[in-house]
Amino acid sequence: MIFAANFKTNHTRTSTKEYILKLENLVKNSSDEFYIFPPTSALQSSFGKVIIGTQNAYPTKNGAFTGEIGLEQLEEFSIKTILIGHSERRTILGESQEFIAQKFDFFKNNGFKIIYCIGEPLEVRESGESKVIEFLAEQFNGIDINYENLIIAYEPIWAIGTGVSATNIQIASTHKAVKQICNQPLLYGGSVNSSNIKEVLSTANVDGVLVGSASLEVENFHTLFN
Ligand code: PGA
Repeated sequence: MIFAANFKTNHTRTSTKEYILKLENLVKNSSDEFYIFPPTSALQSSFGKVIIGTQNAYPTKNGAFTGEIGLEQLEEFSIKTILIGHSERRTILGESQEFIAQKFDFFKNNGFKIIYCIGEPLEVRESGESKVIEFLAEQFNGIDINYENLIIAYEPIWAIGTGVSATNIQIASTHKAVKQICNQPLLYGGSVNSSNIKEVLSTANVDGVLVGSASLEVENFHTLFN
């Protein structure tokens, strides 16, 4: 199973270091895969089993892109893993599918492991499963779904940070459809916590989870894979 923690705009450089040290200790005998996405200022090189990735970067080696980081800054820490397409970047930061596809291509061409996020808003979910699949299929526009270093994360927007996870039945049917579009490891994300983790992981076509809130305390994150 894959366990990925997205810290978003939480944690500092110091607290991230402490977190990773503790986590390394907790996962050393595990056969699962672990990823941590700290904020940019807390990026550091992976030194053990936990893979450290970036929540974002601009598709450039370097240059005049105020406020962004590029390949050169990631290379300093040997970061080779990136989250692309997270709904907060699509909606709050206004990233278009075209730009996301451009970013995907750039990091693909540089051999990155990409965790590519897709997910529908509530109004689409409310218009039925076939509309959901249509919406998600469009989020694959311009994306090389056969890229060998790709993990998909299905994260319904209405489930992110709300405490309302998708149901087992919703996850099962959506994951089945997504696997038919793109046959890659598939994570579920959206209010995963210690109460629903067993059910989520036992759902067909779920290869792991992408976790926000419930990953912020290492002890809490530990309960998910313990
Ligand atoms: P959440 O966030 O676990 O707080 O719902 C998940 C995510 O946005 O990746």
